[in-house]
Amino acid sequence: MKQRRGVVRGVFAGAGGDLALAGLSTQLFALNATAREFVLTKSKVHLQDRSMLNIHAVLRKIDNKLISWLSAERQGLERHRRGHVRDFYHWGGPMNGQTARAEFIRSLIQNSGVERVVETGAYQGTTTEWFAGFELPVVTCEIDRAAYAFARKRLENYSNVEIIHANSVDVLKQLSQRDTIHAKTLFYLDAHWREYLPLADELALIFRYWRHSVIVIDDFAVPGDAGYGYDDYGPGRALVPSLVHAVPGAPETLYYPSVPARWETGLKRGCVVLSTDPDFEAALAATPQLRPVRRGD
Ligand SMILES: C[S@@+](CC[C@H](N)C(=O)[O-])C[C@H]1O[C@@H](n2cnc3c(N)ncnc32)[C@H](O)[C@@H]1O
Repeated sequence: MKQRRGVVRGVFAGAGGDLALAGLSTQLFALNATAREFVLTKSKVHLQDRSMLNIHAVLRKIDNKLISWLSAERQGLERHRRGHVRDFYHWGGPMNGQTARAEFIRSLIQNSGVERVVETGAYQGTTTEWFAGFELPVVTCEIDRAAYAFARKRLENYSNVEIIHANSVDVLKQLSQRDTIHAKTLFYLDAHWREYLPLADELALIFRYWRHSVIVIDDFAVPGDAGYGYDDYGPGRALVPSLVHAVPGAPETLYYPSVPARWETGLKRGCVVLSTDPDFEAALAATPQLRPVRRGD
């Protein structure tokens, strides 16, 4: 059968006369969507799904460059508007795409009667959105303006989510003045990345004000399983047990994933779980996906 090949060269479409950078970015995205290779046969046109010249990657780079010229607030909103899956599921989904982690946290919420969730470090709201699905009140915070604008937009239709643009330690101080400190609260501490590592200060505030709390720290070293990654920002700033034990009031026993890293999915980041509340501690001891390690063991 005789075939002719050609390339449909897309025309700029989409945002019309919008001369703003955001509009131009929309136009490029529209070009991305309309450029296709086609094959003509006798009676039919078959669209072929070929990533021709990797046009998606090239246009995404141009798109990113244009967005980087916007203010931080508009960068976040524009990233949200263009709707790339990579922006919404940057690390492969909630909890870094780790299904074993997600399952033990889900079961902890169910079995120990968690009433509220507080997350530090929302980034673009992926894990926040997952927590919001449990229909419990969720408070999260984010220091980066662009990430905050993205997450705020993403979560605007969740009436159970409060997102605060501030440093996590200031947010915990603010929350410690509310009546909600008496509720059973799950803390998901994930505000790392920057020069100042707030973890020790966050823990000190939680130990002081929240009597009924359970804490999960992401990016934490898992003893005996080097397959799990963790954050190390230099001397005294690695996410290891000594950092937790140095905080006054820290419990003697810390809990780690019992699922070996090779059976975890996604980014395989380590974590630690701890509580100073005897009821929560009993729930942790009864969770098969967790194993206890006592200080000094
Ligand atoms: C690893 S990302 C969080 C990912 C998010 N929890 C998720 O699972 O999708 C870390 C985020 O913490 C933010 N961050 C770093 N230090 C912070 C601080 N002191 N207070 C609030 N946010 C902070 C960073 O800007 C970054 O967006």
